Amino acid sequence: MILPRTYVEKVSRDLYLLRVDDDEIKFFEGLWSIPEGITYNAYVLATEEGAVVFDTWRNRYSNLFVECLRKVVDPKDVRYVVVHHMEPDHSGSLPKLLGIVGVDRVEILGHPMAGSMIRSFYGIDARFRPVKDLEALRIGRYTIRFIHTPWLHWPETIMSFVEELGALLSCDAFGGYSIPSTLFDDDLDDIEEYLEFVRKYIVTVIGFYRPFIAKNIDKIRSLNLDVKIVAPSHGVVWRRDPSRIVDYYYRASRGEIVDPKKITVIYSSMYGFLEEAVSKIVDALRSKGFRVAIHRFVESEHASLGNALSDAFDSSLLILGISTYEGGIFPLMKMVLDALGKKVTVPKRVVVLASYGWGSPRNVLEKMVRDAGHEVVEVIDFRGRASSEVIERVLSLVERYVA
Ligand SMILES: Cc1cc2nc3c(=O)[nH]c(=O)nc-3n(C[C@H](O)[C@H](O)[C@H](O)COP(=O)(O)O)c2cc1C
Ligand SMILES: [Fe+2]
Ligand SMILES: [Fe+2]
Repeated sequence: MILPRTYVEKVSRDLYLLRVDDDEIKFFEGLWSIPEGITYNAYVLATEEGAVVFDTWRNRYSNLFVECLRKVVDPKDVRYVVVHHMEPDHSGSLPKLLGIVGVDRVEILGHPMAGSMIRSFYGIDARFRPVKDLEALRIGRYTIRFIHTPWLHWPETIMSFVEELGALLSCDAFGGYSIPSTLFDDDLDDIEEYLEFVRKYIVTVIGFYRPFIAKNIDKIRSLNLDVKIVAPSHGVVWRRDPSRIVDYYYRASRGEIVDPKKITVIYSSMYGFLEEAVSKIVDALRSKGFRVAIHRFVESEHASLGNALSDAFDSSLLILGISTYEGGIFPLMKMVLDALGKKVTVPKRVVVLASYGWGSPRNVLEKMVRDAGHEVVEVIDFRGRASSEVIERVLSLVERYVA
């Protein structure tokens, strides 16, 4: 058995990062295909009055988590465990940790909702102390301020700010998918490439609660904290340029991350009629200098829903190619439309191509796209194979609507 990679590394003075690289997972939350993997980051603050552990790893890595923790502190010295978020990718090793440290020896700090969740998720009767918004904890020479940040990503999510280090332990917010080759942004070569995984993470995990990102960032900014380090629970820790990831999240929250020349095409094709139309359109668009991302549901492959949504999120226009199926639309495209409504909550212009055999689903299509919160540029339907007029029509609409 190959053990997953783990890291124990000093972030600043007495603050340590414990990171595990999960390259075994196929579908994050059972839903999002992530061949790029993900990391779980926990943190430990070691002080002369005892240690504070911030979050853990998912349960599969409980033993490794405790092993790594031992490299920084003696588990008997852990006085507090801060639970930023109860999603089991972070709380999963709590039972193991509490078993080692001793449930009676340690106090768990978290959002008022977290206490009962610990009991319901793990059957543990822990010593739980709810923290109020902006409440501070003094330990050793450190002051840890807790900030309630609801819906980033659950209602009970909080962040911790270690004042003396300027370290914001931000949990899911400011995180991203993938297993970055470095722990810190200091020496991450291709930040743009990493930000693609950040965008996919934002869209798939926090997309539904998108406005809360800006709301919570505004709240944090209004506190005038001197943030020198942004330490999320997934991905790289931002030490050289923390404002970069905060700005990226802020702009994503406001729907400002848009590539003016990018078009995303998502389509189904059972026997190739739509595929033929789409490939002609894509060739023409590329030759005109558009960047086109393609995601398809065909007999040789099924698109990754997360990648499709992530591409849709920063596109100027979407082209959806939809097969007619049993009086309605192709089931997986129904799923795509539903997800576009829930996760890509920035309204996009949508050109719909629909191929049918005997009856067009035109009316349901318009309604489905509008109900998903997007703007229907035009529904172009055709029987079987698309004519050259259909192709020309799509190209002229793109020219008109995309700069
Ligand atoms: C399983 C199945 C169900 C279909 N249901 C309908 C339907 O309800 N109404 C219709 O007009 N065409 C229906 N069709 C025909 C296709 O929508 C039509 O052939 C279309 O051109 C398929 O394009 P595609 O090969 O790109 O998917 C169905 C085809 C299949 C294979
Ligand atoms: Fe989460
Ligand atoms: Fe998470």
